[in-house]
Amino acid sequence: MQRIHHATLIPGDGIGPSISEAAVAVIEATGVSIQWDVVEAGMSAIEAGHDPFPRSAIESIDKTCCLLKGPLTTPIGEGYRSVNVALRQHYNLFANVRPCVAFEGVNTPFPNTNLVVIRENTEGLYTGREMYADPDRRAAIVVACNTRVSMDRICRYGFAWARRHGRKKVTGIHKANILKVFSGVFLESFREVARENPDLIAEERIVDAACMELVRKPHTYDVIITTNMFGDIVSDLTAGLVGGLGLAPGANYGEKVAMFEAIHGSAPDIAGKGIANPISIILAGGLMMHHLGEPDAQIKIENAVRAVLKEGKVLTPDLLPGSKFGTSDMTKAIIERLH
Ligand SMILES: NC(=O)c1ccc[n+]([C@@H]2O[C@H](COP(=O)([O-])OP(=O)(O)OC[C@H]3O[C@@H](n4cnc5c(N)ncnc54)[C@H](O)[C@@H]3O)[C@@H](O)[C@H]2O)c1
Repeated sequence: MQRIHHATLIPGDGIGPSISEAAVAVIEATGVSIQWDVVEAGMSAIEAGHDPFPRSAIESIDKTCCLLKGPLTTPIGEGYRSVNVALRQHYNLFANVRPCVAFEGVNTPFPNTNLVVIRENTEGLYTGREMYADPDRRAAIVVACNTRVSMDRICRYGFAWARRHGRKKVTGIHKANILKVFSGVFLESFREVARENPDLIAEERIVDAACMELVRKPHTYDVIITTNMFGDIVSDLTAGLVGGLGLAPGANYGEKVAMFEAIHGSAPDIAGKGIANPISIILAGGLMMHHLGEPDAQIKIENAVRAVLKEGKVLTPDLLPGSKFGTSDMTKAIIERLH
């Protein structure tokens, strides 16, 4: 008898609803049965008169423990706190896994790139505790925190992930030359866990040097482990190396709950135009299939995406400037190649 999975869906803001709809359609077309509990969060929840991170979302995720999330808008420099960060902290989604693969057919100078960024997701500079230091608001401070427990946990997770996926090399990215204590606590964990895993090559890089090296020879990187803000920035950089944010999925894992999303944001500049590339969130749906114990569905999704990109006909404008194809055309093409 076919299993029915339960999952929460937050469609998201901006381009979120259209790309989430695409991901749900592709997942359903694999034959996997999911009962979706759809809840609003972020700007869409506010527009409906609710809190940006409403009780209904928490109650649903508490039940399903599995979330597919469209991008959520966070006002810049003012307004409510990021719901993305709140979700990661509330559910202690400590490991953010962001694969970065160069697909055949996509225009990139780095066709051999196949790396993954594993980012600590709950600490560092993104604690949400910041304030002005004076009444005139001319200076600001942030409370940043890296604990040894969390650094050990992400490093152990990253090395175990590397072994499970047959990877050979792990690079720890830090800034412990300047932030000797704050980033140093990560580096101490990385070195200790590297010693526990002598079968894997362990390298260390200072974040600025790593960025320079990543844009020159990304194929020399395999698995990257790093802290919250460096991971946020480096994973957008690596997405750009292989064709842009439209091709970059992300998974966020905690002890109990897992959340799957595109790594990009709500793209307000193209929202409502029907041209957003749905592949990031479709691939995130593939990661979700693996998590739910449906690895064949993940393989089907990845192969279908690979086929559409290789053919190079039905591509959204971010991949093929001037293309007349949009989100729904690409989704249909991917569904037609699922088998
Ligand atoms: N995980 C999340 O939900 C998440 C992540 C990043 C940013 N955000 C939020 O999203 C909002 C917009 O942020 P931003 O504009 O800096 O970044 P963004 O990622 O939304 O967009 C950056 C650029 O990439 C393009 N782009 C992004 N996704 C695309 C897609 N699927 N297809 C084609 N082009 C795509 C956009 O058009 C834009 O030009 C902000 O409120 C930000 O806080 C949310």
